[in-house]
Order: sequence, then structure tokens, then C-alpha cells
Amino acid sequence: MRKKEKIAVYPGSFDPPTFGHLDVINRSLEIFDKIIVLISDNKNKNYMFSKDERFEMVKEMTKDIEKVSVENLPGLLVDYLKKKKMRIVIRGLRITSDFDYEFQMSSLNRVLYPKIETIYIISDIKYILLSSSLVRELISNNGDISKFVPPEVEKFIKNRGVR
Ligand code: PNS
Repeated sequence: MRKKEKIAVYPGSFDPPTFGHLDVINRSLEIFDKIIVLISDNKNKNYMFSKDERFEMVKEMTKDIEKVSVENLPGLLVDYLKKKKMRIVIRGLRITSDFDYEFQMSSLNRVLYPKIETIYIISDIKYILLSSSLVRELISNNGDISKFVPPEVEKFIKNRGVR
């Protein structure tokens, strides 16, 4: 009998994607057969990059990783999972201040969809202080982002320019 593929989703804003996100993806692939990266669009967030741009950057960054696909997350994560009959969510966890938000989110998601299981990948020490918001700050001030984002993402941002 063929073994069932273990698939997990990795939702996030990816505004922009960083080496930290890439590390979570690569490490998740040691546990799962396939990862679907979901690009969210939260109406309450002021993104620097549009949903299409964030999609494009994640796609570029993962183009050589066979077992990764990228999709847009149109609404609630739980609705996506129910529709696709999936239940495993990956999130990265850095410093303890991430915990409150993650705890709230995973608890709320479990009320909405008890089957959901959120798995946290503790950030590598190299990326513990790295965040998309710090990268955005650098971009806004024409700073060097090469140590924080993969080359494909840096190239995309350079070509796009700051708006
Ligand atoms: O990278 P982020 O912004 O911290 O990611 C948050 C994300 C995408 C996981 C969360 O906003 C999400 O799941 N959005 C989809 C809408 C949803 O399901 N919201 C309810 C979760 S409390």
C-alpha cells in the first residue's frame, strides 16, 4: 500500500520573505513530504508589498525546492484547511514575545477547527532577531538587506524600488 503524503501548510504575510522563513521551510521538509506556503492578506495590515509581490518573492525564493508550492490564502486559515481536508500548520517561533500572539492564534483556530494542529519550529539562533519588519525598515532607508533575505528576494526588491 502506498504511504500517504504528509503535507503541512506554512501561512504568513512574508512581507518580505527572509532567510528565517526559508530556514523554517527547509527544516519543515525534514518532517513533511510537502509544504504549501500560504500568502495571507490581512485587511488590518499595512503591507509594504502587495499580495502578488509577496507571492512572487516566495515563489522565486523556493523555485529550486521541489517539494514546496505557493498559494494565496483567500480568507480564514481554518476554512482553507477544512476545504482541502488538511490539518497541520507550521509556524516559526523566535523570541518569547512571539508566543502570546501564536498562542492566541492557535487556540482560536482550534476552537474553529478542533482537528487543526500547529507545529512550531524554533528559529535558528542566527535568525532569532530577524524579522520582516526590520527588513522593511532597512528597505525604507536604502539599507543593505543582503544578509537578511535570499538573493532572489533582494533582486526582486531592487528591481521594484521603494514606493
Ligand atoms: O506572518 P503573520 O502576519 O504573522 O501571519 C499571520 C497568519 C497568516 C498566520 C494569520 O494572519 C492567518 O492565518 N491569517 C489568515 C486569516 C485567519 O485565519 N485569521 C484568524 C487567525 S487568528
